[in-house]
Amino acid sequence: MTDTKKSVHGAWSSRFAFILAATGSAVGLGNIWKFPYITGENGGGAFVMVYLLCVLLIGIPIMIAETMLGRRSQRNPVETMVLLTEEAGADKNWHYLGWMGVIAGVLILSYYSVIAGWASAYILKAFTGSFFDADAAAIKGIFDDFVGSPMQLIFWHSLFMVATMQIVARGVNKGLEKSMQLLMPALFVLMILLVAYAMTTESYFQGLNFLFKPDFSKLSSDSVLTAMGQAFFTLSLGMGSIMVYGSYLPKGVPIAKTTFIIAGADTVVALMAGIAIFPIVFANNLHPGSGPGLIFQTLPIAFGAMTGGWLMGILFFVTLVIAALTSSVALIEPVVAWLVENKGFSRQKACVWSGLATWLLGLGTVFSFNVWSNVKFFDRNIFQLLDYVTANLMLPIGGFCIAVFAGWIMKRENTEQELNMPDAAGYQAWKILISYVAPTAVFFVFLHVIGVL
Ligand code: PFF
Repeated sequence: MTDTKKSVHGAWSSRFAFILAATGSAVGLGNIWKFPYITGENGGGAFVMVYLLCVLLIGIPIMIAETMLGRRSQRNPVETMVLLTEEAGADKNWHYLGWMGVIAGVLILSYYSVIAGWASAYILKAFTGSFFDADAAAIKGIFDDFVGSPMQLIFWHSLFMVATMQIVARGVNKGLEKSMQLLMPALFVLMILLVAYAMTTESYFQGLNFLFKPDFSKLSSDSVLTAMGQAFFTLSLGMGSIMVYGSYLPKGVPIAKTTFIIAGADTVVALMAGIAIFPIVFANNLHPGSGPGLIFQTLPIAFGAMTGGWLMGILFFVTLVIAALTSSVALIEPVVAWLVENKGFSRQKACVWSGLATWLLGLGTVFSFNVWSNVKFFDRNIFQLLDYVTANLMLPIGGFCIAVFAGWIMKRENTEQELNMPDAAGYQAWKILISYVAPTAVFFVFLHVIGVL
């Protein structure tokens, strides 16, 4: 790509730093909080199967494409689309793709921060021994009291937003790289310990069955859409977040190989969360479809019952908050990068304004769980509506457009050069997936949901 305009971008220090940061963006509340609860709401095995298929056939090719777009332009998503549209001699309407991503990031972070606030509050609850010997009913009581209090939710949401903006203000390389190196191994170890605890419950196999034995009669068309939306959400795709990270990636790093590592790690963490949680759900006669509170109503039972559970509880929620932080910075980075690079804001000023706007929007989610729980649009409260519109609509639509752009609009020689795959068969496989399989799959799921198919 021509480098006429001086980039104000930073760059990752290495390929490993990019892998850490992109994995940090991918692994977050989506894996540990959202995956189990939507799996529970959508009947288990069949849903998980569709989700895994979507990751493989749609998610991975789009992740490769999105990273490639960012790296080629080395600019924020809005600028990326402007530059690459020009390079391909394509219609200017493609510019809107960058915009949609910026908006989706802010909308997602507004509720993401509220839930991350719950996880932060649970560090304190774990520390003060609230879960000690508590049964399922007591743990549910703690959760219900907590989300019923708008002031408490606002407090923790604010704290989390401030922490996010502090990191973003310092810049990607400095703020992110270091925290990730410690976080990922810690998260893996904790998940393994939780799975080990789940094995000791008498419902371990019931949990596994629920998660992996498909019963397609439980799969509605909306479940298929949710599974596809989750593939986008969990891999941070369709909104320019991976594009921004790709733009900091040094030229010459092999994109496809790197993508497999990131998507693989992300999937493993989600499945481990499921394997840890569902046995606890069944062992305590809880309902798998109990919604966004699921992990907050199950894991504390384990922490309250197991030896060393006090420390485990604290470590788990600390790790969850850090995992959420490394995702939230990725959600806000597209808008910050745009304000800095296009609007001439200083990084600090960009952080203050985007952070404030996101915080304010987040209040809608806070109130969805208490004072506004009856305020519904299309049968959904504000939180559910935001989640549906972003994860199930905006991200897949964004991903669809990215696939069409990479597969059909960009010149073959340019994608070939940028991906620089060692073997021709690998490139050809990607080209088929991105041009035909991924866009068609997204399109059919949408047709199915609106009842045309
Ligand atoms: N992938 C994150 C998670 O699973 O928690 C959420 C996310 C982060 C979505 C960044 C989109 C994004 F751009």
